[in-house]
Amino acid sequence: MALEKEAKRMAAEFEYTKDDLNKGVKEFLAEMEEGLEKQGTHLSQIPTYVTAVPNGTEKGTFLAVDLGGTNFRVCSITLHGNHTFSLTQSKVAVPRTLMETDSASELFSFMAKQIETFLKQHHADHYETHMAKPGEVSYFDLGFTFSFPVEQVGINKGRLVRWTKGFSIQEAIGKDVCELLQKEIKALNLPVKVSALVNDTVGTLMARSYTSPGKESTLLGAIFGTGTNGAYVEKLSAVKKMAMIDEQEGGTKYDRSTGLMIVNTEWGSFDNSLKVLPDTPYDQSLDRESNNPGIQMFEKRVSGMFLGEILRRAMLALHNHSSPGVSFLKDKSSADNDMTTTTTIDPDSVLFKQWGIDTSVLSIVEEDQSDHLRITKQILEKDLMVSSAATEDAIAIKMLVHAIGKRAARLAAVALGAVVIESKRLETEGFADIGVDGSLVEYYPGFEDYIREAFREIEGIGPEGEKKIRIGLAKDGSGLGAALIALVAHQAEKAGNV
Ligand code: BGC
Repeated sequence: MALEKEAKRMAAEFEYTKDDLNKGVKEFLAEMEEGLEKQGTHLSQIPTYVTAVPNGTEKGTFLAVDLGGTNFRVCSITLHGNHTFSLTQSKVAVPRTLMETDSASELFSFMAKQIETFLKQHHADHYETHMAKPGEVSYFDLGFTFSFPVEQVGINKGRLVRWTKGFSIQEAIGKDVCELLQKEIKALNLPVKVSALVNDTVGTLMARSYTSPGKESTLLGAIFGTGTNGAYVEKLSAVKKMAMIDEQEGGTKYDRSTGLMIVNTEWGSFDNSLKVLPDTPYDQSLDRESNNPGIQMFEKRVSGMFLGEILRRAMLALHNHSSPGVSFLKDKSSADNDMTTTTTIDPDSVLFKQWGIDTSVLSIVEEDQSDHLRITKQILEKDLMVSSAATEDAIAIKMLVHAIGKRAARLAAVALGAVVIESKRLETEGFADIGVDGSLVEYYPGFEDYIREAFREIEGIGPEGEKKIRIGLAKDGSGLGAALIALVAHQAEKAGNV
């Protein structure tokens, strides 16, 4: 009983009320506006130099690479021009040693080598002809999805502002990441031109626009995966800082004729000063012991990389509870039959390791409807090396998981809801279309339902507005999206539009 009561109390610390939601949206709207006006704000609101969304008729073959967090992907994409495409891809995990290192070229040459292997495998003729007779075949245009905050100054030019999601390579900060990649590609003499720099959210927005039938365009692309972020279609005239950036860079090139600019919000850093974000003791210690304290504060409460760690910290607090009655993952005696359950935790359990618990654990526990939470106990045994956990332990974990996951979804609704409200699309077009991708939206049970429940509580959306918001999965959209942007870049260059 004492355990259940304490778990309930802790779960309540994660509650994010209707009032909190509305305060969150208000602050988000203010930070959106501030970010459009000047640089160096929490919400970076980065102009991406992509000034239109596709309509599904685009054609051609392009390469795309994607450095997102956990994996590195290389793909070639053929757009058929009828909302469909074919895609060939290879995927490798990024070795941890390359994520935290002194030398940027180690990471970028790793990427170039993966491109080389891909070309040899999937475009052997093209590759061999180029090697034998340079100049004979054309270069592939490559869209580079680089999902970290980058100060973009052109369609294929951008300086890294900071690393997120566990990466840390000081040397790369402030450098143009396209140039870093192009240099390594050149060293291998590959027929590839890095023609577009793309954030994964922009790719998701483009992919959703290309694949969704109908003439209406998508408003927003959002990722809820290892990290979180969103990019949306803004009126060029609203991006007030554009003139200042132009001046600083001695002129920037982009197509002004559409009157639009896709803006990468970098909402992972929304409210870094914690004006409105919830802040439990577990959030606090997670941040303090992370490699980037004080930044990405929204992301640290919402995205996949962090939810497992929040849970781990809450579980540890419960396990180490000072009251002996709160016996969590410890031996328990039962008053009914005088029996004692002996629970052991291996000292090597991931419960004791920072970042040890994967978000997939939360998804499985949230989903668990089995008798006596058998599945949760199996996960404890298999993934956390906890043997003979009691049903009370599993119940306590489920309460915490549910609270952490639901809070993440309600916070996600703050960001999505604010962008929808700012766009006024519910009033002007009668609906707003959102493309999403990432492990949380794809696998976390009920994530979208919790988001929708929150939408209904947000002033300016409400139950009527919620029905008009379409959310569609743009799976692996970043590859397709990067190809689409490479195409736009190629066409603009050919037409002399930039
Ligand atoms: C990065 C964003 C990215 C997001 C989702 C964040 O950590 O800052 O650029 O879009 O993760 O991958």
